[in-house]
Amino acid sequence: MQEPLPKKAFIKTYGCQMNVYDSDRMRDVLAPMGYGEATSVEDADLVILNTCHIREKAVDKVFSELGKLRDLKADRAAEGRLMEIAVAGCVGQAEGSEITRRNKAVDLVLGPQTYHMLPELLARRRATGLAQIETELAVDEKFAGLADKQKPLARGVAAFLTIQEGCDKFCSFCVVPYTRGAEFSRPVEQILTEARKLAQSGVREITILGQNVNAYRGLDAKGQTSSLSKLLIELSSIAGILRLRYTTSHPRDMTEELIEAHATNPKLMPYLHLPVQSGSDRIVKAMNRGHSVSDYLKTIDKMKKTRADMAISGDFIVGFPGETDQDFEDTLSIVREVGYASAYSFKYSQRPGTPAAVRANQVPEAVKNERLYRLQALLNEQTQNFNKACLGKTMPVLLEKPGRRPGQMIGRSPWLQSVHLEIENAAPGRLVDVEIIAVGTNSISGHYKNDSLEGDHIV
Ligand code: SAH
Ligand code: SF4
Ligand code: F3S
Repeated sequence: MQEPLPKKAFIKTYGCQMNVYDSDRMRDVLAPMGYGEATSVEDADLVILNTCHIREKAVDKVFSELGKLRDLKADRAAEGRLMEIAVAGCVGQAEGSEITRRNKAVDLVLGPQTYHMLPELLARRRATGLAQIETELAVDEKFAGLADKQKPLARGVAAFLTIQEGCDKFCSFCVVPYTRGAEFSRPVEQILTEARKLAQSGVREITILGQNVNAYRGLDAKGQTSSLSKLLIELSSIAGILRLRYTTSHPRDMTEELIEAHATNPKLMPYLHLPVQSGSDRIVKAMNRGHSVSDYLKTIDKMKKTRADMAISGDFIVGFPGETDQDFEDTLSIVREVGYASAYSFKYSQRPGTPAAVRANQVPEAVKNERLYRLQALLNEQTQNFNKACLGKTMPVLLEKPGRRPGQMIGRSPWLQSVHLEIENAAPGRLVDVEIIAVGTNSISGHYKNDSLEGDHIV
């Protein structure tokens, strides 16, 4: 009898870094079931779309991809081969059975907190012949269940580690509190165990993740509530970990203790992603962000005083309901005042179930387009200026992978810039000092000077 071909899974990830992390955890769950990684959907026995619900466009993409997968599945069936389709992530949570109603080819729908149940759900699907929908919001079970399954798989030099999930803030435009549930912080020991495994498998830089990562309040071994800054101290003592980052932070949770950590913890990178969404107090209030524009600016000021080389990135929404020309000008002016190293900006998207979606004073699409264009022009100029200011500087670069040319390596600067350099026989994971000699649109490049000292340092 012929051996059955080994099974392969293809996971396509949309949305934020937390989905990137979750997709890797799903790979960990699938590996012991005998699934290897497929290089494309054509090659896969199981296709998982790990989806995002944040803006309408993100959701449209999922349904159009599902249309294509339905055809592929039918072609496959004609050849006598099975292809299973799962929808995971925030669209799965938000739409549930609507997905299987709209597309009969979908076998599984899983919310973001059910990935530990993947084997059971696949088995149930096969046993019953019925599509399975699982959208329980049981986040503690998710992490406890996944922690058992995680092997120290080397997936590169830099890794994500989710420490907090969900959101209690209810910004009036946002679906996340509905798709990811209430704020939950993983216990300290569970995080440290995972971080040690990552370090053992060659990871040198960890970015810890949460929808509101700085609202972290996990329990430590003594049953006491820890904070993000305390957790960062523990993480920085793990052998092999050279760099730490965290994202996304909320301005309301930027405590003095966390700001101070940037002065005292040399492994913490001088880079902060701190979204403000708008520079107008009126709009920030209508968004229910819970702070004023001047509160935000004061925090940025403190961060810059704590570390002179601190770079800031942010998120912006243009065309929130009721946004006037003056409100938008206020956004441009806060951008000029802060000077962002990089930033994401979006047109406001009406999301079902959120308070802002039903406001009467929606901004016309043409106005949103024009505002986004102007804002992005300014933000791009700032990124270019930030990169240009690096010319002639020497900075520590963590080598991540070989470049296209022989002898070329690509690494990352403390400020997340991609850095190209020529260096012979260098392994990923090495920290080297590089003098920057050229600045391109998406990367900077320089000369190797010497290996960096243990830990990171800025020259
Ligand atoms: N928790 C983070 C943001 C998570 S969502 C915070 O509070 O900053 C990532 C970004 O998507 C947001 O910062 C916002 O800029 C954007 N976003 C969220 N909902 C949106 C909507 N309805 N329309 C347009 N952009 C949106
Ligand atoms: Fe969404 Fe606001 Fe929560 Fe961020 S803080 S995830 S924008 S509700
Ligand atoms: Fe999208 Fe869900 Fe992340 S809606 S941005 S994938 S938390």
